[in-house]
Amino acid sequence: MASKDFDTMEDSNRSSNPSIHVVSDPVRRTVLRGGVGVAASALFAPLAAGCASAASREKPRPLLPVIGFKGVPALATDTLVVPEGYVATAIAAWGEPVGVPGHMPTWRGDASNSAAEQALQMGMHHDGIHFYAIDGNSSTHGLLAMNHEYTDDGLLHVGGMNPWTAEKVKKAQAAHGLAVIEVEIKDGAWQMVRPSRYARRVTGQTPFAVGGPCAGHALFKTAADPEGRTVLGTLNNCASGKTPWGTYLSGEENFMGYFSGGDKLSAHEKRWGMRKGGWGYRWHEHDERFDAAKNPNEPNRFGWVVEIDPFDPTSTPVKRTALGRAAHEGAWVGVTQDGRAVVYSGEDARFEYIYKFVSRDKIAPAGRGLTQAQANRSLLDHGTLYVARFNADGSGNWLPLVHGSGPLTVANGFADQGEVLIKARQASDLLGATKMDRPEWLAIDPNSGWVYCTLTNNSARGAKELPGVDAANPRANNVMGQIIRWQDDRDFDGTAFQWNHLVLAGDPANERAEAKGNIQGDIYACPDGIAFDARGGLWIQTDMGPTAMHKGELKNVGNNQMLACDVATGQTRRFLTGPTHCEITGLTWTPDGTTMFLNVQHPGETPSERSDPAEPTQYSNWPDYQPGGRPRSATVVVRKRDGGVIGS
Ligand code: FEO
Ligand code: CA
Ligand code: CA
Ligand code: CA
Repeated sequence: MASKDFDTMEDSNRSSNPSIHVVSDPVRRTVLRGGVGVAASALFAPLAAGCASAASREKPRPLLPVIGFKGVPALATDTLVVPEGYVATAIAAWGEPVGVPGHMPTWRGDASNSAAEQALQMGMHHDGIHFYAIDGNSSTHGLLAMNHEYTDDGLLHVGGMNPWTAEKVKKAQAAHGLAVIEVEIKDGAWQMVRPSRYARRVTGQTPFAVGGPCAGHALFKTAADPEGRTVLGTLNNCASGKTPWGTYLSGEENFMGYFSGGDKLSAHEKRWGMRKGGWGYRWHEHDERFDAAKNPNEPNRFGWVVEIDPFDPTSTPVKRTALGRAAHEGAWVGVTQDGRAVVYSGEDARFEYIYKFVSRDKIAPAGRGLTQAQANRSLLDHGTLYVARFNADGSGNWLPLVHGSGPLTVANGFADQGEVLIKARQASDLLGATKMDRPEWLAIDPNSGWVYCTLTNNSARGAKELPGVDAANPRANNVMGQIIRWQDDRDFDGTAFQWNHLVLAGDPANERAEAKGNIQGDIYACPDGIAFDARGGLWIQTDMGPTAMHKGELKNVGNNQMLACDVATGQTRRFLTGPTHCEITGLTWTPDGTTMFLNVQHPGETPSERSDPAEPTQYSNWPDYQPGGRPRSATVVVRKRDGGVIGS
């Protein structure tokens, strides 16, 4: 099985800075600045209302404990384990038909399904996920929108990549993108509803519209799209965000891996990591669109936050260029006191940046025959993009990426705002933004408005001729990762902020100072997915690479896992461990908090030292446990046996 062991390739885990603040909280309920507090609770209103539940409107339920479960040990078995009193079930695994009426090809365990069939089935490598209640508040019936990040071509095809054919490239493209499925509780268990009028796959070939300043831009025009307004496909979609107007945002992360450059790379191509031959997908061998020597503008059309309306399978998804081009992990929305959207986003790559976009206009209500999603269909096309600078004294600044301001001028190579956005890395370099340790997910505390971001690891930090440590990224050879947090001045659109670290990850028992963490409670490394539940509990998911796990400084950490953290006290407890070599990612709840959906990505991923596509090594057969069967990414549904709120 071939492996795109990006986490190891991009990194995997070292250092301790005693000056780092631990968790004692400056944050929390005390800093509920009127405006932001109101805005934050408005954003989370459906969840909060659901938690209070219809039964107790006039007498709100007392605040449930954030960590009310018995923790699980750091297991390293090919199983998925949740605490006593909980049940976890896998649904919607790779290859299951999504439920498009009249087009439901069944899963075939030998992977002999065609490209056309794959385009109607769940994609590979499930990642970010969100629940959309069917009537706005149902906790038993809704849609799940989710990402399919990338493919393991050794698993995806009969014979793996040997031989490598045009049909296999089409199938790989069909296994990328997004899925929208309908789910409901039937006979006491969550199931996919099939057929469903909502069921949809978006793939590496689905037409996207272009929104914002890059629509029609010279650097967006290609021979196949001379107008520069229609892009085929979305790729490497990692995390997701749910907007207050009911749409789904998804980040195009390591898009450059799909493109092969020519013999001579431009400075622009080099800055974005292009290589001759690409990163191993080999699409360019059968699809010229991915040969950047022939189509140099095609890579400019990837690296965006994309938006889809999960309730309208006929709607055209849109690339939101005003939010800037980056190896976007995902996108998360806050709402200002006056009702504008603020979208935070990080770039999961070593020494890259954290951004925020502030919309020009207010979020519009539904009305005049339009759903709220339709009423806000150009909201994210107008506004201001900023990049973060974390100062050593605990303050920070949001630096505007606006053409004509500061160094972002024609003389410095930026023709217009479109070019600033397409070359957001170069623009951020010039502004002196802070180069981070691989920003992954962000999450906004519904109680305080503080914004949290995982910095998963960066083993290159401090290496020869690369950036050294700074206050925000304090450990050289950082293989463990950290979680940083900030509060913008006055409101989410503030251009200055205060920051500190929630935690430095890593086993505090490690000998090497750089690998010691300051976690209080159960240990973990390489935080990636994070999300707050309605009670203010922070859930942390991990992504250690399979090559590094279970040995050395990671020997006590177990498989990738999910933990809950009370940010008021810093106490952390392990809730779940995943099967062998999987990543735990993606997290969403029903409005009443009694069902949690998360994703298990790439169970059985092949470590990099063994990633020969021809090698029939098998590390996992989760979730089907068929002898010799293929492991499959899948969605996991977690419920409490007594029907209570998850985690309480
Ligand atoms: Fe695809 Fe950064 O995780
Ligand atoms: Ca991730
Ligand atoms: Ca990761
Ligand atoms: Ca992964």
